[in-house]
Amino acid sequence: MEDMKLITNNMRNFVSKKEMDDVFRPMKLIHGALKKKECPGNDFVGWLDLPSTIPLALVKDIEQTAAKIRKQADVFISLGIGGSYLGAKATIEFLKPAFANELKSEKPKVYFAGHNLSADYLTDLFAVCKNKKVVINVISKSGTTTETAVVFRIIKQYLEKIYGKKKIKDKIVCTTDESRGALRKMADEEGYKTFIIPDDVGGRFSVLTPVGLLPIAVAGIDIRALIKGAADFEKKCNNVTLNSNPAYKYAAIRHLLYKKGKVIEILSSFHPSLQYVSEWWKQLYGESEGKNKKGVFPASCNFTTDLHSLGQIIQDGRRNMFETFLVVDKSASRQSVPKVKDNLDGLNYLAGKDMEFINRKAYEATSSAHYEGGVPNMTIFIPKRNPYYLGQLFYFFEKAVAMSGLLLGVNPFNQPGVEAYKKKMFKLLGKP
Ligand code: PA5
Repeated sequence: MEDMKLITNNMRNFVSKKEMDDVFRPMKLIHGALKKKECPGNDFVGWLDLPSTIPLALVKDIEQTAAKIRKQADVFISLGIGGSYLGAKATIEFLKPAFANELKSEKPKVYFAGHNLSADYLTDLFAVCKNKKVVINVISKSGTTTETAVVFRIIKQYLEKIYGKKKIKDKIVCTTDESRGALRKMADEEGYKTFIIPDDVGGRFSVLTPVGLLPIAVAGIDIRALIKGAADFEKKCNNVTLNSNPAYKYAAIRHLLYKKGKVIEILSSFHPSLQYVSEWWKQLYGESEGKNKKGVFPASCNFTTDLHSLGQIIQDGRRNMFETFLVVDKSASRQSVPKVKDNLDGLNYLAGKDMEFINRKAYEATSSAHYEGGVPNMTIFIPKRNPYYLGQLFYFFEKAVAMSGLLLGVNPFNQPGVEAYKKKMFKLLGKP
């Protein structure tokens, strides 16, 4: 079976072999430190061997809980923000049909909340829940995140009104810290079913813990295949050569480009289902690298849509960016262009061609045009849209950002900067 691949042809004249060899020297030392868990932030590297060490009993518990929810609920709402939201959202968007919640066959419909403070969003969600059996999963490692906690309080009251206080116990699952935080306290007091977020796994690295796995399983996705893909890449990304370790190759290239003033990375995909994989990636890279006044700014584009909006600035604007394309090699379905007699739209030259063939040519043309326009780029090819390859991709990006952050001289596993707005917001809100 072919793995996910990283292709770097369009780095010619931007990154040399000698530069790669030079940067690989400190990388070897960092590799050793990571492996021994002796690097900065080493109390948060539990994700490193998570795919190969996740207990089977936990996987079974998640699957059984998910099966129960699938039976019981018409609507499932996953509450969480940041790392307690994006992994599951990315997976579900990537693997489920584009309009899954519109399909009759889809049960339960899966929605997300607690990742914003919009009253209208919640009101609209309640409209969807009307006369439906609802089950929720509240996810918060700290157990105190304002967005999630506020929305949980409102939804809990909504459920109590419908089902009565005593009957909501089996409609709420909490994923939180083993012993700390308000959510843990409440779950224990109320007797909710809980899953534990490991102490040594930070939010943005937690997709393969119950944080991501429960909502993903409720959506009917094979979590064992996801874990297996990640476990296979755990092995592959443990190699200490650049050619056999795509994560280290990616980390080395982006580090060298950053040193040359390429301070923005655009993750560009050609499949709308990848939009939230990009959002997950943005958090992973932004929160891991962006500190001490350093870091590549992670941006994303959805092509070909954004070629008609951001294409101009990428092709011709300030040359401070590089691009990483995410391309799905084989689509699951075909849609070919029909031949028509009158050919009024002039499209008969494409007759018989599949849309994905045209999409592929759009990618090839874009990568070549951007390269010639001064935007170095590389491509990650995902063989197919399935959980196994997504598992590979998740692990690849996680391992790469650890290396990349450590190479930059920052602790990739903390996020001190996110506290600043909270302090000001709490002051404005009059938090005691
Ligand atoms: O990566 C992180 O640590 C953050 O994005 C958190 O996941 C996010 O702030 C939510 O935190 P919590 O799970 O504590 O509610």
